Amino acid sequence: MSTETETGTETRTGSRTRTGAGTGDDLRTPPPRSATDPRPDPILALLARVTPFLLWQSARRKRREPRPVDRSLRLVVTEVRQEAEDVVSLRFTAADGSPLPGWHPGSHLDLDLPSGRRRQYSLCGDPADRTTYRIAVRRLAHGDGGSREIHETLTPGTELRAHGPRNAFAYAPGGACLFIAGGIGITPILPMVRAAAAAGADWRLVYTGRSRATLPFLDEIDAIGAMAGASGRVTVRTDDTDGIPTPEQLLSGAGRGTSVYFCGPPPLITAVRDAFPTTGAGGLHFERFAAAPVVDGTPFELQLGPDGPVLPVPADRSALSVLAEQRPETGYSCRQGFCGTCRLPVLAGEVAHAGSPTARRTDTNMLICVSRAASEGGRITLDV
Ligand code: FES
Repeated sequence: MSTETETGTETRTGSRTRTGAGTGDDLRTPPPRSATDPRPDPILALLARVTPFLLWQSARRKRREPRPVDRSLRLVVTEVRQEAEDVVSLRFTAADGSPLPGWHPGSHLDLDLPSGRRRQYSLCGDPADRTTYRIAVRRLAHGDGGSREIHETLTPGTELRAHGPRNAFAYAPGGACLFIAGGIGITPILPMVRAAAAAGADWRLVYTGRSRATLPFLDEIDAIGAMAGASGRVTVRTDDTDGIPTPEQLLSGAGRGTSVYFCGPPPLITAVRDAFPTTGAGGLHFERFAAAPVVDGTPFELQLGPDGPVLPVPADRSALSVLAEQRPETGYSCRQGFCGTCRLPVLAGEVAHAGSPTARRTDTNMLICVSRAASEGGRITLDV
């Protein structure tokens, strides 16, 4: 879609260039050297030849520069509701009452919490409702404090800055779909299920967790399951009554060509990914709600400023987790290399870049949640 936009821009810029070419026609006929020598002045002739090219190049460069888009919003909490054990949902409206930006199933918001933490939450309300956003948050007793802050400090009337919505887990309607949600992983999946049901698609949902008491939005899922044509499409299985599911059990509804959408805890995602190739299903789309474990990492060093301390980063940890331990105010959000919140300038050292180039912006930056030193034992000096 962005390519189409760029093409449109090119067409418009091309028109400007052609308009400029009219001026260039005059330049292409440089004045004679003197009244007695009718030959064109060589310097002016050269200028006349290269000027249109330089103008075209400069316009092209301007076109390609990414334009920063301000996607920040002022939101106000309108409702906090207990949805399940340790899970609350929050509804927000725009602080100035204006319509909220549209979104599609799978989108998330970045919320700036009062403490300065930035955290991401999937939108789990109705995309057609431009007056309200809804998210749901499970309180993690041993988390990094973001979920506790939401549970303990956000009340109706609290104002927050948010960014987005953005979508890194897009649902493509059409074709057979198997949705798998583990616990709070239901948040991005719920709007997808609603969209599939509304479109009359061939879909199944497996919703799993420790017990029914821990699963949010069961009432809404039951209502979708009770819709005409949805009979037998929803399976809720809990560890306390059905046992911990195997990846094969979760994927049992993934027939040939089926698209699988999955959100859940990292170990379950890893297990499902490993089992997926045996299913013959068409594609696996997943979103984690925690950082992916570091696999195949090698140790390296992180220096905080040219004269600052040097921190060892072990093979199984990210630079972000090591730095955040020393400096808890370190900013991060997705921990998967696509939001850019953890981006830091690099002063020295060779980086093996990972994550989205758009989030990194330039090669002199590093996404510390996913990038490492290019060589084992190498040292990266950050401008912090
Ligand atoms: S935290 Fe999002 S890119 Fe690193």
